Amino acid sequence: MKIGIAADHGGYELKEIIHPFLLSLKHEVKDFGAYSFDKDDDYPDFVLPLAKAVANKEIDRGIAICGSGVGASVAANKISGVRAALITDYFSAHQGVEDDDLTILCLGGRVTGYMAAEDLITAFLNARFTGAERHLRRLKKVQLQEK
Ligand code: RB5
Repeated sequence: MKIGIAADHGGYELKEIIHPFLLSLKHEVKDFGAYSFDKDDDYPDFVLPLAKAVANKEIDRGIAICGSGVGASVAANKISGVRAALITDYFSAHQGVEDDDLTILCLGGRVTGYMAAEDLITAFLNARFTGAERHLRRLKKVQLQEK
């Protein structure tokens, strides 16, 4: 898959760890920055371009990281068509895709350790939306709110 990654200073270290991890899984990776550690940078500057690339299908899935993962998920969900969530447990990492067609996994670089992050990413990337009627029905109700 073509995977986009983005992080501010709070997620920069974890992004630099997961980048080679994704390559080792044979994914194509597009890095939306930050490209160096800057304690004063702002997560929307990296997360919004990633979210737009997911929305226009330039990339298949995204991983957005800030200190807590909260700001990244708030920002990503402002882009129409994106479904992003802060994930901290294995079940939600795959079920979010299977039931809710999650397209951006948000992580807290100051919260989730790198081994746990790799497990969450693996679950997220291996999962597929089931397309079940009840899930499509629920997604359509959400999509009605998009402009
Ligand atoms: C930046 O210090 C921090 O606020 C940011 O990375 C993130 O945690 C916001 O949700």
